[in-house]
Amino acid sequence: MHSFRYVGKELFCEDVAISALVKKHGTPLYVYSDATLTDHFTKLDQALAPVDHMICFAMKSNSNLAVIRTLAGLGSGFDVVSAGELARTIAAGGDPSKCVFAGVGKTEEEIAYALKQGIYSLNVESEAELQRISKVAVRLKKIAPIAIRVNPNIDAHTHAKITTGTYENKFGIAFEEIEKVYARAAKLPNIRLRGLQMHIGSQLTDVAPFRKAVEKVAPLVERLSRKHGFDFFSIGGGIGIVYQDALASGNAAWWSGAKAKGILTPAAYAAELVPLLRPLGLKILLEPGRFLTGNSGALVTRVEYIKRTGKKNFVIVDAAMNDLIRPAFYDSYHEIVPLTRKTGATISSDVVGPICESGDYFAKDRPLPKVGEGDYLALLSAGAYGSVMGSNYNSRGLAAEVLVKGRKSAVVRRRQELSEIWGLESKAPWQK
Ligand code: LLP
Repeated sequence: MHSFRYVGKELFCEDVAISALVKKHGTPLYVYSDATLTDHFTKLDQALAPVDHMICFAMKSNSNLAVIRTLAGLGSGFDVVSAGELARTIAAGGDPSKCVFAGVGKTEEEIAYALKQGIYSLNVESEAELQRISKVAVRLKKIAPIAIRVNPNIDAHTHAKITTGTYENKFGIAFEEIEKVYARAAKLPNIRLRGLQMHIGSQLTDVAPFRKAVEKVAPLVERLSRKHGFDFFSIGGGIGIVYQDALASGNAAWWSGAKAKGILTPAAYAAELVPLLRPLGLKILLEPGRFLTGNSGALVTRVEYIKRTGKKNFVIVDAAMNDLIRPAFYDSYHEIVPLTRKTGATISSDVVGPICESGDYFAKDRPLPKVGEGDYLALLSAGAYGSVMGSNYNSRGLAAEVLVKGRKSAVVRRRQELSEIWGLESKAPWQK
């Protein structure tokens, strides 16, 4: 469920008309719903209640301080992938002792920073990294809590660019190697073998690959835990969300047939996995990103021009691939709805941005209501991997972000000033 819906003709986020936000803050504008973040976190947390667990929000999906703050307030831990993300957690009042640190390329500085902050676990991706962590821990006279990431070689049947659990990917250590690697790790100084981690991919709408992976890895966890005294098993993130039918999925009734619609609910996820996980007697970690933030956000944009060519109706908007790169990068679908509901026939349209690339589009041949200059559109399910993947390409400033809670709204990232785009640059001393 989410909190974007029409009230009369107007699109609202919770109790706030998005048109009012646009008037105040301009476009392109990301709008986030506190209620949706809370609802998704709570549903997942409750579904997992039969096992001891900790949700570690994958903040790579949306690391705005206000989003982190909301989730920290609900008791969330965090999955971080850089010193920057760990520093953000701390800046937002998150607890480093509830953070796991993932990623194949941790630098010595990042490892040292994480150890000093009291990280819950460093999730290790290679033997070289194990050696490096041990060396840094010895130097700092600290014990490094670690988990090794197993690559279970299970195909998650998701987009090739977001599959992570097969041997074609750079992630983790092969299933067949893992026990030997733990045995060697146990001999390294200042290392505490705290658990095992896996993550098979993102935007999974079927529970079967999760089940397959847990079934394959659980006996391994059991053996390793007996030997090394584990605290936890992390089953990673990856729960998929609704993109295609995004607006309708805000409605409780729509969810009654969720299974038939091929949607993975927290209840269905837990029903399959909890019986496999509970016998392990360990803390179960989850690393959801998209599931918590995806449906919580929309990108709002203004129609600048309509351009008709012999073949196409182009709706040219003021947001671009630098604001939301997912359609260009993954051919991903975001439902597009006008802020003021329109009646009448639809027209097949390409929604495109102003950037000088053919890949700068949000939709192709999409039946859309007839819109014109000055109308506003909302791209739904844009809360995950939207703003965080933004850039200054074409010297376009980063979009503003607003958080809504009930009737309240607040700017949680102000619009970037043009001079800030080149604020880190300078001319060379020999140039005039
Ligand atoms: N844990 C690990 C180790 C991960 O690599 C990821 C995502 C997650 C958790 C969270 O996955 P989620 O629950 O959000 O599916 N930019 C792409 C998605 C990249 C996902 C990267 N890793 C997109 O826009 O679809």
